[in-house]
Amino acid sequence: MSDTTPIRVQFVCLGNICRSPLAEAVFRDQVEQAGLDAHFEIESSGTGDWHVGEQADRRMRETAAQHDVPLDGHRASQFGADDLEAYDHIFVMDKDNLHDVLYFDDDDEHNGKVRLFREFDPEPGDFQVPDPYFGGQDGFETVYQIVNRTAKALLDRLIEAHNLPAQATQ
Ligand code: 4NP
Repeated sequence: MSDTTPIRVQFVCLGNICRSPLAEAVFRDQVEQAGLDAHFEIESSGTGDWHVGEQADRRMRETAAQHDVPLDGHRASQFGADDLEAYDHIFVMDKDNLHDVLYFDDDDEHNGKVRLFREFDPEPGDFQVPDPYFGGQDGFETVYQIVNRTAKALLDRLIEAHNLPAQATQ
């Protein structure tokens, strides 16, 4: 059923300066292009606190800019137990993030809403988005390619699951 309550989606990685901010920005861009802004609230966070308040990593911002994805307004935040309650869907970038997010699920109530993002990737590999932080610039482009195709597939799935008024994205 489609109604007016927004679907709350959060993307989670470790630092919230590379992978999950890009996933947030790319997914938001695709949602806007599908005319579905009113149906979603989209956020991202990191399981660690080292970068809270910082902009996205400069290399990630450069890669995003090359693909016309706006990332400059991002400020890093840390995932917390409240997020587990508040969000409908939590998509994590790797298996460490999955472990760290589910740590907050004391009573095993929310594990159905926490998924590896790449479960939706048509070419899922090992189901994890590789952490580009300690590597070279090409790792950031790889992250973009993974995130872009996975976010499209994810949006198509959510459109179907929530019966939203849009055609599948290109
Ligand atoms: P992210 O990348 O989890 O994709 O934001 C990282 C950012 C920072 C660190 C590790 C990964 N760090 O160790 O500070």
